[in-house]
Amino acid sequence: MRLAADPTRDAFLVPVAAEVEAFDLPVSGALPPELTGWFMRNGPNPRPGTPPLHWFLGDGMLHGVRLERGAARWYRNRWVRTSSFVDGAPFIRPDGSVDLRAGVANTSVLAHAGRVYALVESSFPYEVTTELETVGPCDFSGRLATPFTAHPKLCPRTGELHAFGYRMFPKGVTYHRFDADGTLAQSVEVPVRGATMMHDFALTERYVVFLDLPVVFDPTLAGTGAMPYRWDEHYGARLGVLHRDDPTRAPVWFEIEPCYVFHVLNAYDDEATITLDVVRYPNLWREREDWPPTTLHRFTIDLANGRVGEAGLDERSVEFPRADPRRTTMPYRFGYAAQRDETRGVVRKYDLARGSANEHDFGAGRMIGEPVFVPAADDRGEDAGWLLLFVYDATRDASDFVVLDASDVARGPLATVALPQRVPAGFHGSWIAEGEVGAPSGG
Ligand SMILES: [Fe+2]
Repeated sequence: MRLAADPTRDAFLVPVAAEVEAFDLPVSGALPPELTGWFMRNGPNPRPGTPPLHWFLGDGMLHGVRLERGAARWYRNRWVRTSSFVDGAPFIRPDGSVDLRAGVANTSVLAHAGRVYALVESSFPYEVTTELETVGPCDFSGRLATPFTAHPKLCPRTGELHAFGYRMFPKGVTYHRFDADGTLAQSVEVPVRGATMMHDFALTERYVVFLDLPVVFDPTLAGTGAMPYRWDEHYGARLGVLHRDDPTRAPVWFEIEPCYVFHVLNAYDDEATITLDVVRYPNLWREREDWPPTTLHRFTIDLANGRVGEAGLDERSVEFPRADPRRTTMPYRFGYAAQRDETRGVVRKYDLARGSANEHDFGAGRMIGEPVFVPAADDRGEDAGWLLLFVYDATRDASDFVVLDASDVARGPLATVALPQRVPAGFHGSWIAEGEVGAPSGG
């Protein structure tokens, strides 16, 4: 998986020009019949005619695969019809105010309380359907007044959705808690040092953990085609802990070694200690948009003495970490990620109990995205389930949808579905099981 790239040179980053669909797709191997639902993945796909500025930027496009009792019923791709996409609504209005209904909705897909959202951290969620139609922006009955992270956390014990929004104008971070029925129940301001780029956060049984890290807004870069954020040597770095049972209590902050974290793998607590596992960059965007190698990293926050232990869990550079969503907030054993390699696609699986890892190498010329873990319905074990992902093959200039057995990643694909068009590199996906969001329309 390549991070720093020139979309004019790298075929797997080039946007697709059309919305297509195809039915009853050819499958090599066997799709598990239990996987009946929708795989949806989001990513930037600038419309034809817009310049390829940056692979983080551009109109969000959803790619969806409908699986039904062992068959791949359809693939389709659709742009998210935000107000910016439909009528060019500017995110920053002429008077300098921000239109949270405008934006690109290009980063992730999430289902909660029977609804599906396309998310980008600068704007409101956009509700979409499993058919990839856009419903519209969502401010949760007027209660949401901030941007909304692309990485909310669903608590498997309570069904609550925890989220946050960070903003530059004026700078700040707001924590949001949604009830299991989708009602935005509480919003609390979280004081941060400055205009930090806060992409992800963590949830444990008792706590919410914020990452106040030294990649901060640089207004001189706004409008240049680069991400308007840079490493700040003087900002420092800290983790902020909020109590779930009373988030109005001021967060407690813990200093850490400067670093950057886009993505949290998982986190849990035993009341006195919080364990937080992340993909850690030693620094980021210090010189232009440099992408140093990452490590899988564990922070251990001792709430009593204020110390934070830091330990590397794996030296291999990866991104897009995922774990069993049933273990969010809880002790867990297995994690999955895409290895960062410019020449080949490799899915890596971690056994954190044993301190070991194995992998599946799709081979040279293949590029992969995030492996999304889907647990099997029966509880045969934490890694009983599947990894779903798109794989791009540069030699064919074509993409496949692939299912791996998560309990035996090294075995290679259980099923490979040939897609009618290339799926460009993107960000995050979700598996939405049949029944999770209502009856299928059958299309
Ligand atoms: Fe992300």
